[in-house]
Amino acid sequence: MAEPKENPLMEKIVSLCKRRGFVYQSSEIYGGINGFWDYGPLGAELKRNVKELWWNTMTREREDVVGLDATIIMSPAIWRASGHVDTFVDMMRECPLTRKRVRSDQVEEQSGTVYRWTGAESATTGWKVQKPFAVLQRKGEHPDSVRKKAREYYAHGAAAAQTGDWKQLGLQGETTAPVENSVDFHPESGVELSESRPFNLMFKTYVGPVESEENVAYLRPETAQAIFAQFKNVLDSTPVKVPFGIGQIGKAFRNEVTPRNFTFRSREFEQMELEFFIPPDEAIEALHGSVATIPAAGHPGEPQPNWGWEAWHRYWVEERVRFYEGIGLTRDTLGLHIQTPEELAHYARACTDILYKFPFSKRDEKGELKGEELEGIAARGDFDLSQHEEHSGKPLTVFDDELRATWGKVSDDKKKDMREKFVAHKTHVFVEKKKLPPEEAATAAQKEAQVFFDRFAKGQYIPHVIEPSAGVDRLILALISNAYYEDEMPDEKGKMQVRVVMKFHPRIAPIKVAVLPLLKNKPDLVTKAREIYSSLKGHFACFYDDGGAIGRRYRRQDEAGTPFCVTIDFDTLGEKGPELKDTVTLRYRDDGRQERVKASELLPLLLEKIR
Ligand code: GAP
Repeated sequence: MAEPKENPLMEKIVSLCKRRGFVYQSSEIYGGINGFWDYGPLGAELKRNVKELWWNTMTREREDVVGLDATIIMSPAIWRASGHVDTFVDMMRECPLTRKRVRSDQVEEQSGTVYRWTGAESATTGWKVQKPFAVLQRKGEHPDSVRKKAREYYAHGAAAAQTGDWKQLGLQGETTAPVENSVDFHPESGVELSESRPFNLMFKTYVGPVESEENVAYLRPETAQAIFAQFKNVLDSTPVKVPFGIGQIGKAFRNEVTPRNFTFRSREFEQMELEFFIPPDEAIEALHGSVATIPAAGHPGEPQPNWGWEAWHRYWVEERVRFYEGIGLTRDTLGLHIQTPEELAHYARACTDILYKFPFSKRDEKGELKGEELEGIAARGDFDLSQHEEHSGKPLTVFDDELRATWGKVSDDKKKDMREKFVAHKTHVFVEKKKLPPEEAATAAQKEAQVFFDRFAKGQYIPHVIEPSAGVDRLILALISNAYYEDEMPDEKGKMQVRVVMKFHPRIAPIKVAVLPLLKNKPDLVTKAREIYSSLKGHFACFYDDGGAIGRRYRRQDEAGTPFCVTIDFDTLGEKGPELKDTVTLRYRDDGRQERVKASELLPLLLEKIR
C-alpha cells in the first residue's frame, strides 16, 4: 500500500483512522486496491460536515453563487475541448523487470554501482537474446543478486524449453560503473527505468453495450468542466448576472501513476469547486474608467463593481484561507504557494495554492514543513468558456447593455490603448507559453483582439473566471492530522495516563455530543439519559454510550473527537439534594474540564458552542 512507512506520526494517524472508523482501505478483505479509500462511520460524518460547510459558505450564504450537481460521465467532447484528452498527462517511467511505473518527477535519488549487460544466452539450448539491461547494485547488495535480476529479465516471455534453466543463463558484455544521486533507477527493484513517456490520467469506460472507440467515455477528472458546459443553462434559467459563481461538489477520478501518502493522492476523490465568472478587465475599464487597485497584501474587502481579476483573485484566496481558519486550520499550519510564470498554464493569469503542513510534507532549509496543496485558486481568463464555445459551436457570451452603451462613448485613443495592451499581452503569452514565433504570435493576437473588441461593441463578452478548487479528501486528511494530539490525563484512580485526543473544531467534529448515563443498570438514570439524548439528537450528531466505566467512555469519545460529553448521574436525579436535580455534567474534551449545567439549558448552550 502507498502508506508512509517511515513517519511515526503518520503511522499513528493511519492506525487511528482504521481503529476508530475514520478511513478504511477499500476492498480490504480482498487485499485492498491501491489508491482507493472508504470512510467509516466517523469519517463519513466528518466528510459530510466539511462538504456541508463548504456548500453553505460558498453558495447558500452568498447571493452571487448558485449550485450545480452534474453527472460523472459526460460527453467526451467536453474533455477534447478542455484539453484533457490531449494534455492531462503525467510523465512516467517503467521498470522493465517488474513493469511497475513511477512518475518521472518523483523518482528518488540513489547511489551505488550500475551493472550493465548487452544480452544473455543459454549454454544448454543455444538460445540468445540481445538487448541492453542495467541494475543498480545498492549498498549491502551482493553482485549475484543483481545478476539474478538480469537473468530473470532476459528469460521473461521466453519458453523454458528455449532458455533452459533461466538461473543458469550466461550474461553478456557485463560492465560496471559508479553512480551518484541518480534518478534513473526504480526505487524498489533498482532496475534502470525506461524513457519518460506521457500517461493520460483519465479513466476510460464505454457507454452502451459495444466496446468500440466511438463509445469511449471518461470518468471526470475534475468537476469544473461540467460547470463550464452548463454555464449557459444556468445563466438562462436563473436571475444571476456577472459577476457570479457556480459551485459544485462531487467525485473526480484520476488514474494516478503513484497514489501515495494515505488518502492525499487517491485515484477516486471528491472536489469542491467554484467557478466565479467576472467581466474581463477591459469591460471594467470601459465601464468605470479604470480597474480598482488593491492593497499589496491581505483581504481587499467587500466586492466592488470596478474590481478586475486581480482583486477577485485575491478576494477568493483570502476568503478560502478564512474558511480553513474557521474549521481549525490556523494560518501557521497553512502556507501559500504563488505559482511562478513557468509553472502557470498558458491561459492562466495567476494561481495561488493553499498548502497544509502535513506530517509527511518535506522540510525547507530551516527545517520548517513546507506543506502540500489543499486547494488551488486560479485566474483562468476566458480559456474554458472560449474552448467550449469553439468546440460546441454554441455562443457562450453574456450581454451587458450598459457596456454596449458605454463602449460607444469611449474615446478612440482609449480604445487604441486598450487594444494595444491586449495584443501585447496575448503576443507575449503566445511566444512564451505556446512557443510561437514572434510574428505568428502577433498575428494570432491581432486576430483575437479583432473578435474580442467587435463583441465589445455589441455589449458582448466571454466572462473570465476565478476558480477556487479544493479536494475534500485532502482536507479531511489535513483536519485529522491537525486534530491528532497525545497528552496525559489522570484515570479513575488518579494515575496519569497517555490519552489520544482528536481536537476537531466543534463545527466539523463527527459527533458533537455524547450522552452518558453514569450506570446502565439504574433505570432512572437510563430513562433520564434517553430523554436528554432524544432532545438533542434532532439538532446535531449525538452518541449514546452506556458501556463501561465512565473514564473509559470519556477516552473513547476523546479519540473520536467528540467535543462535549453529557453525563447523567445521581445528582441529576436529585439524590444529593434538590438544588442539583435536573442538572448534568458537561465535560469538555480538550482539557477534561467539567461543569454542572441545567438540563433545560443544555440545548441552547451546546448550539452556541457548536456554531
Ligand atoms: N479544476 C481544477 C483542478 O482540478 P487540481 O489542482 O488538479 O485542479 C484541485 O485539483 C484539487 O483537487 C487539489 O488541490 C486537491 O485538493 C484535489 N486533488 C487533485 N488530485 C487529487 C488526488 N489524486 N487525490 C486527492 N485529491 C486530489
